[in-house]
Amino acid sequence: MQIPMVDLQIQYQQLKEEIDLAIAGVLDTSYYILGPQGQAFETEAAAYLGVKHAVGVSSGTDALHLALRAAGLGPGDEVITSPFTFIATAEAIAYVGATPVFVDIDPRTFNLDPELVRKAITPKTRAILPVHLFGQPADLAPLKQLCDELDLLLIEDCAQSFGATYADKQTGSWGDLGCYSFFPSKNLGCYGDGGLVVTNDDRLAEQVRMLRNHGSKVRYHHDIIGYNSRLDEIQATILRVKLQHIDRFNRLRRQNAHYYSARLVEFGVTPPFEDGKGVHVYHQYTVLTDRREEMQKALTQVQCASAIYYPIPLHRQNVFASFCAGLSLPVSEQVAARCLSLPIYPELTEAQMDQVIAAIGKA
Ligand SMILES: Cc1ncc(COP(=O)(O)O)c(C=O)c1O
Repeated sequence: MQIPMVDLQIQYQQLKEEIDLAIAGVLDTSYYILGPQGQAFETEAAAYLGVKHAVGVSSGTDALHLALRAAGLGPGDEVITSPFTFIATAEAIAYVGATPVFVDIDPRTFNLDPELVRKAITPKTRAILPVHLFGQPADLAPLKQLCDELDLLLIEDCAQSFGATYADKQTGSWGDLGCYSFFPSKNLGCYGDGGLVVTNDDRLAEQVRMLRNHGSKVRYHHDIIGYNSRLDEIQATILRVKLQHIDRFNRLRRQNAHYYSARLVEFGVTPPFEDGKGVHVYHQYTVLTDRREEMQKALTQVQCASAIYYPIPLHRQNVFASFCAGLSLPVSEQVAARCLSLPIYPELTEAQMDQVIAAIGKA
């Protein structure tokens, strides 16, 4: 059987009645932008995430961009982040004119190493931007302590970690701002682009609300230069339906991950590490191996997908060459050379995972 990295169709078929009804409701009202569905989703998401404010925006990239702008970051400011992430994390820093400072990762969790972060702080550092990569919470306690101690902003990239917790508190609720993506394949995904910024700070929430809607609080009154970056009503209504199921989706992802891990160790691959400080929600299931090419070949032969997230760390990307020349971040480089992501989604069956495992065993 063919096994894709993610199968969005199964989940849609399971929720079809609820989702079709919700979308039809929006079409019946013809209210598409900044309406009651978006407001209700923001209230429900804030309650779920345990934060005071949630502001819907048009993508995870925009969530990061508007969060950094609302926080007042700009040219001359340094923002410490991970080099082992999707480009959007660092792009957002560049959008506001600040400088991304890449710091190496922990070899087991693939997330920022707090000790190395401390060493990278300079008088220009204004913020730390951890990424909860693959759904594994970054080590937030020492990062938060560092931010409190040095009066730095903590801005979390939660694009891959909706529902993940650290010390029993949701990722995204630890920082000054938390930024989510609802790209369709995410743990909580809509049917297009979407994103969310969360915060407990009234002023930051108001800034993000204005920035997403042309710098305006009152229609046709513009106080700052903003953007068109709103979460639309159809996406919001879909997200309201799916939010009710997110804990089950994440539970199933974890169950599948543990099924893989229990069986893959015998083939000499290093399964994902759980550090016990939080709950990993397995946006991706990523192993380390020295035989990546052979494994990908064996998987392709039996029509199983696999992917390399991410093959080139950001400090080695052409776009950042001008200020990263000569920068060596050995852990990120080694992980990028050895990582392999296998299909994972809530509806994946044991028979499908057995097929993946068998191909890996063969390789
Ligand atoms: C870690 C990370 N940050 C940011 C983003 C950007 O989100 P979006 O694709 O919704 O713009 C993504 C996802 O694509 C991501 O994986």
